[in-house]
Amino acid sequence: MDRRLYCCTRTQQITKKQNEVSIFVKDDHSFMLVEEFIPNIPSKKIDAGSVGFTSPSNIALVKYWGKKPHQIPSNPSISFTLNNCKTETVLQFSPNTTDGFSFEVYLDEKKQPDFRPKIEHFFQRIFPYAPFLKYYHFDIKTSNTFPHSSGIASSASGMSALAMCIVALEEQLYSGLDANYLKRKASFLARLGSGSACRSIEGGLVVWGEHKTILGSSDLEGVPYPFEVHDVFKNYQDAILLVDKGEKQVSSTVGHNLMHNHPYAPSRFEQAHRHLDQLIPILKSGDLEEFISIIEKEALTLHAMMMSSDPYFILMKPNTLEIINLLWTYRKRTKIPVCFTLDAGANVHVLYPKKHAIEVELFVKNKLSAYCQNNQYILDNVGEGAERIKI
Ligand code: PMV
Repeated sequence: MDRRLYCCTRTQQITKKQNEVSIFVKDDHSFMLVEEFIPNIPSKKIDAGSVGFTSPSNIALVKYWGKKPHQIPSNPSISFTLNNCKTETVLQFSPNTTDGFSFEVYLDEKKQPDFRPKIEHFFQRIFPYAPFLKYYHFDIKTSNTFPHSSGIASSASGMSALAMCIVALEEQLYSGLDANYLKRKASFLARLGSGSACRSIEGGLVVWGEHKTILGSSDLEGVPYPFEVHDVFKNYQDAILLVDKGEKQVSSTVGHNLMHNHPYAPSRFEQAHRHLDQLIPILKSGDLEEFISIIEKEALTLHAMMMSSDPYFILMKPNTLEIINLLWTYRKRTKIPVCFTLDAGANVHVLYPKKHAIEVELFVKNKLSAYCQNNQYILDNVGEGAERIKI
C-alpha cells in the first residue's frame, strides 16, 4: 500500500518508517498530510449539480475513547454498522463567487446557522484532500431518520453522509478513481469530521485503529472486519432505548480529552487491544456468552473511565441502571443471550440475535420502555453502510 503521511513541526525534519507509513516531521504547526488522498488537478470541469447519500449510525462493541492529534485514536475499536438510524444528505453545488468556503446547511429544509462552525471546521481540515471545495457554493440538505434530539449521536451518520457526497463530487471531477479508493477516502475524510464516523461507510463489522492481528487495520480509516464472522452476527439486532433525549452532557471532544493524563488510560488502551484479540475467535464461533462478557465490560469500562477522570462525570441516569438490572434478570431467567452496550450517554443499546427478536422486543415494549423518555425506543439491526440516493 502506498500510504505516505507527512506530519510537520517547525523545528525538526525527521523521516521514519512505520508499517509502510513515512512520517515527515517538519513544522511545529503539526499538520499531517496523507499523500495518497491528495488529488491532482481535476480532469473535468463541472459547473453545477447535486449528489446525495444516506449513511447510518454505528454502535461500538470495543469503544474508541481517547485520541491523539489529527483524530488518531488512542486504541482500536470495532462496531456494528446500523441500518435504520441514518442521515440523508444531498449536496447541491454551483459556482462559488467568494474566496473562502461558501455553503448553507439545512436540516429538514430549515437553515441551520448553528451547524456552520462544525462544517467550516470540517472543510478546513479536509481542504488539502478536497481542494475543489473552494470551487463551489454548497447547499447541504440533510435530515435524519431518527427523531431529532433523541440523544443518538448524529455526528457519525451526518459526517459519513457528507464525506460520501464529497467523494462522489470528486468522482465526477476526476477520471479513473475506483470505488474502493473512494470508499476508503470517504472513511478517511469522515474520520476528520468525527472519529467514529469513519466506521459508518462500510456495512457489517468495521474496525478503526491499528491492531496487530487485524490485517489492514488503520488509524486513518475504518476497514471492514477481515476475518470469518459467524452468521449470528450478520443480522444482529439493536433496540436503542432513549433514556435521555437531551443534549449530550459531555461533548465528544471534552470526553476524549479526559483520557489525557487519566491514571487508568494506559491499561484501558491495552484492554481494548486485548478485547479485540479475544473477539476474533468469538466472532468466528458465535460464542454468545463470551461475546456478552466483552461487550458489557467495554460499555461499563467506558463509563468507569468517565467516572474516574478529572473532572469526573456520571453519564448514566437512574433509568439506565434500572434497565441494565432488568435485562440481567431477564437474561438469567430466560437464558436468552441478550446484552447491553452504552455510548457516552444514558441511552441503552440492547443487543440480541435475530432469532430471539420476537421475545426480546416484547420484553423491551412491555418492560423496558417504561424507563425511556416518553416510552421511546428504536429498533435497529446491522446494515450495509452508506448508499447513494438517486437524484
Ligand atoms: O466519534 P466521537 O468523537 O463522537 O466518539 C465516539 C465515542 C463513543 O461513541 C463513546 C465510542 C465509539 O467508539 O463510538
